[in-house]
Amino acid sequence: MTPPAFLHPFAPPAATSYLSIVRGERSTVWDDQGRPYLDAMASLWYCNVGHGRQEVADAIAAQAATLAGYHCFAPFTNPPADVLSARIAAVAPVDDPRVALTCSGSESVDTAIKLARMAHERAGQPERDMIVSRSSGYHGVTYGGTSAQGIPPNREGFGPLVPGFVQVPHHDLAALEAVFAEHGPRIAAVITEPLQAAGGVFPAQPGYLAAVRALCDAHGAFLIADEVVCGFGRLGTWFGSEHLGLRPDMITFAKAVTSGYVPLGGVVVGKAVREPLEADATFLLRHGHTYSGHPLACAAALACLDLTESEDLMAAVPRIGGRLEAGLRALQHRGLLREVRGDGAVWGAVVPDGVQAAKVRDRLLTLGVIVRPINDVLAVCPPLVMTDAEVDQVLDAMGTALAEA
Ligand SMILES: Cc1ncc(COP(=O)(O)O)c(C=O)c1O
Repeated sequence: MTPPAFLHPFAPPAATSYLSIVRGERSTVWDDQGRPYLDAMASLWYCNVGHGRQEVADAIAAQAATLAGYHCFAPFTNPPADVLSARIAAVAPVDDPRVALTCSGSESVDTAIKLARMAHERAGQPERDMIVSRSSGYHGVTYGGTSAQGIPPNREGFGPLVPGFVQVPHHDLAALEAVFAEHGPRIAAVITEPLQAAGGVFPAQPGYLAAVRALCDAHGAFLIADEVVCGFGRLGTWFGSEHLGLRPDMITFAKAVTSGYVPLGGVVVGKAVREPLEADATFLLRHGHTYSGHPLACAAALACLDLTESEDLMAAVPRIGGRLEAGLRALQHRGLLREVRGDGAVWGAVVPDGVQAAKVRDRLLTLGVIVRPINDVLAVCPPLVMTDAEVDQVLDAMGTALAEA
């Protein structure tokens, strides 16, 4: 068999068979054979408002019929981009923020890195160009994001990466302190996920994020919270930083801002970064994308923000997360899991030695449940509209598949 014309993302290029998903409704998606699956991964960590929401489809259709696209390079703007930026700025745990818009998480990470370096440059510190990241962090696949990546295989084989990146082991605060002690005046920013998701679901250890903030403050570096997964309700607050008591200088977001209905990402840019960029009225920031502020994507985001508020979806996080955690810990007590870790509505279930998480995922597909294997972890990150009965179905299926494994 020859592979299909579509060269898939994060897939073996030689793979010939795929599961074709054709429809979705709330927490369920259907394949082209009509088989339903409970989507315990909210697609790829993003579909917080659930699939098939008519409210979002209507907002997209109305915007498409009014103005589908128009660019936002100076001097242009459009109402959905302005309204969305103001709404995000109003809820972000960042001092006096503005919002840059992109089309993906990777673009958001690259934007934040470029803004960090440019802000220091404008402030008269061009030598401040180092970016510090943590192992197991996933920061996307553009060259900036790849250079910040904490997942070694994702960095390999792509030739020279961007210079100026340093990585520390993710739970090793002493290693980060040593990097600051050695390179403090050269550090532009630290980038970290508040909870590392795609690297295997690792919450930060108690006190770690506050210590990172303190180091950045002491040495004049910016703190970038990569909230591509944590943003827009996953941890029960608009941004995970708020839930964890963190005030970053920039926040990158994507995914759940539109629940994936239209691709959109962005960066919340705080005062410390903005000020040097805005200081000279003649300065032109030569960064941004053709589709930054795309009206259709922004209309989809506004509809998702409305649903998040009107249905109080963030209040569902303790219910869903609590039920998941309790159920996963019960599986652990039965000896079917080695470790359970997570926060809010994102959990990682570590399979016992000798069990292959990918095989468990395959068996779960036959039971009509979608989770994501990451090394020895099964990630669970459901839509925030998942019912208790559906959470129980996911847990029951995991119990069955793990017992067989
Ligand atoms: C924390 C984080 N940052 C960045 C990205 C990259 O986002 P995208 O795949 O939209 O480029 C991801 C994707 O999973 C992510 O989890």
